[in-house]
This record gives sequence, C-alpha cells and structure tokens, in this order.
Amino acid sequence: MNILAVESSCDETAVAIVRDGREVLCDCIASQVALHREYGGVVPEIASRKHIEAIYGLADQALAQTGLKRSDIDAVAVTYAPGLIGAVLVGVNFAKAAALAMSKPLIPVHHIRGHIAANYIAYPELKPPFLCLVVSGGHTMIIEVKDYTDMTILGTTLDDAAGECFDKVGRVLGMPYPGGAALDRAAQQGDASKYSLPRSKPGENPYNMSFSGLKTAALNLIHHAEQVGEELDIPSLCASFCEAVSDTLVPRVIRAIQETGCKKIAVAGGVAANSRIRKDILDAARDLGAEVYLPPLSLCGDNAAMIGAQAYYEYLAGNTADMGLNAYATKSILGEAL
Ligand code: KG4
Ligand code: ZN
Repeated sequence: MNILAVESSCDETAVAIVRDGREVLCDCIASQVALHREYGGVVPEIASRKHIEAIYGLADQALAQTGLKRSDIDAVAVTYAPGLIGAVLVGVNFAKAAALAMSKPLIPVHHIRGHIAANYIAYPELKPPFLCLVVSGGHTMIIEVKDYTDMTILGTTLDDAAGECFDKVGRVLGMPYPGGAALDRAAQQGDASKYSLPRSKPGENPYNMSFSGLKTAALNLIHHAEQVGEELDIPSLCASFCEAVSDTLVPRVIRAIQETGCKKIAVAGGVAANSRIRKDILDAARDLGAEVYLPPLSLCGDNAAMIGAQAYYEYLAGNTADMGLNAYATKSILGEAL
C-alpha cells in the first residue's frame, strides 16, 4: 500500500511516499528554519504562508522522484494535530483535496504518533509492545506503546517540553534557532560537572517531570554572570545542561522498564538527536539488558515519512476520516474519536 503523507505542523513542509508503513520511497522536505532564524523562533503567519507555497511542488517532486503516477497512490495521510493551527490547516486542506481528487482514503495522523513511528522505518523488526520516550519541541512523554494505535501515557512534563528549554537556553546564549543542536555540539567540548543545575524530583506520578525549574536556573545563571561580568565557560554550561535534562529523563525510563517489565525502549522526536541523551539511554539499557531503538538523526526531526509509517497502521485499524476532517492545535496522543 503506497501512502502519500503530508506534514506541515511547524516549520518543515514535507511530503513522503511510504509503502506498507516501513519502506520510504521518497521523503521530500522544504525547511523554513533559516527563514524563522532571524526572529529567534517560528513566526506562525510566515510558516503558514511558506507551507502553502511549498506543498504542491513537494507533492509533484515526490511523484517525480519515485516515478509513481497518481493512480499508484492508495491513500493520503496527513498530520491533523497538534501544531501551529494555521500550519496544520495547510496540510489538512491539501490532503483533503488530494484524497478527494484521487478518490482515495484520507488518514489523519497525530504528529507524536508519527514521531514514534519513525522507529518502524529505522527498525523494520520493531513491533509493539514497547516503551517510547518522546522528546520534541512541544512534547516530553514516556509512553507505553501496547499496539500500533493503542497507547498509554505513563508520564509527561508538567510544564515545558525538553526541546523548548534547549531552544530558550540556546537563544539566551546567542545560538541560532533552534538551539538544541547547537547546544548539543557546544556541549561536546565541555565539562558537565562544572555547573550545578537542578533535576526534577519524582512527584505523585513518578513518571511525570518538570523542566521549567531547570530552564529558569540556567537562565538565571547566565544573566547573573552577565551582571557581575563573569565569563561563562559556555561548552561546560551546555554540557551541564544536557546532563541535567538527561538525568531528568533517563531514571524515569529505567523505572518504566523495570515496572512494566517491557525490555524494548524507543526514543522519538527532535531532542532524540541529543548525543548525551542517546548515550545515557544506551548505557542504562545495557545495564538492564533492554533493547534500545534510536532513530537516525534524519528521522528524529519533523518529516513526512514518519507520518506515512504511522498512517499505514491507522488505516489497518480503520482510522480514516472524511472531508469533515479538521486541524487541531492541541490533541491527546490517545486519539479520541475523530
Ligand atoms: O520533533 P521536532 O523536530 O519538532 C517538534 O515536534 O517539536 O523537535 C524540535 C526540537 C527543537 O526544540 C530542537 O532544538 C530540538 O528538537 N533538537 C535538539 C537536538 N536537535 C534538535 N535538542 C537537543 N539536542 C539536539 N541534538
Ligand atoms: Zn515534531
């Protein structure tokens, strides 16, 4: 089954064609990151306009690259939530029009389910049940993936997402948007023990976490140094920050492995590219005899291939939509009735 998949929830316009949920025939992306960089973050209005400009050309490009004709496409999938509402709407309207014009089923996909499904592309042998640490710009969750479309949220951030904190701290340090990757690179040369930053303590739900305290502590440290004219060791501050984020995430993942008895842990989302988090998860899992699934960096960030992968399983579960499909800025990953 060839699925034409569309992703436009933030600052990447993407169209992919994925066969049977696992084989990526093409993955076309038009990134707007450079455009938003001068504003230090995504400007929603600009994002929506750029999606409109890019999406038709990307779909043509996807067909041209694969040599497929429209009649070879069996269904159209799209990220329908969550994201910047104007941006998500562009993809949803395009996908509805394409499905209608080609008389093919329309498959709505939750963006975070898509991130999880990036692992199906990278690891053809991976099947649920498994645990997944989702760490993106807008979400931080530990999820039990019981089946392709049946999930339980074990824990979530109570405030900021990990990616948001990376971007905010990166911005204050003068790094280009989005700060996560630059901060990760700088951290490679630093000493993580140099600065002491807080870790979120387990609360009533031991899987829940918080990042706003860490973000504020890092920002206060930077502003204080500026005020008193103290020169910061930026690489070491970045390394200390990456360590604090990882120390908040990894013990909860270990606990989830121990308590559920599930020895397969996947990582998903843009922050899954972080080298410290990748290393710490690998080390912890090795000690527990658990299998770790880390998508390649190209599949950690937003892309349409992951949407096409999840769409296949949504289709098999009967989760298709009609022309009444709407876009949503926020929506739970648990997929209430559409
Ligand atoms: O999943 P994603 O591409 O978009 C959302 O769905 O939010 O995640 C983007 C986030 C940004 O916050 C970005 O700074 C972060 O992923 N990110 C990283 C790294 N690469 C991207 N954070 C830490 N380390 C990285 N290497
Ligand atoms: Zn994303």
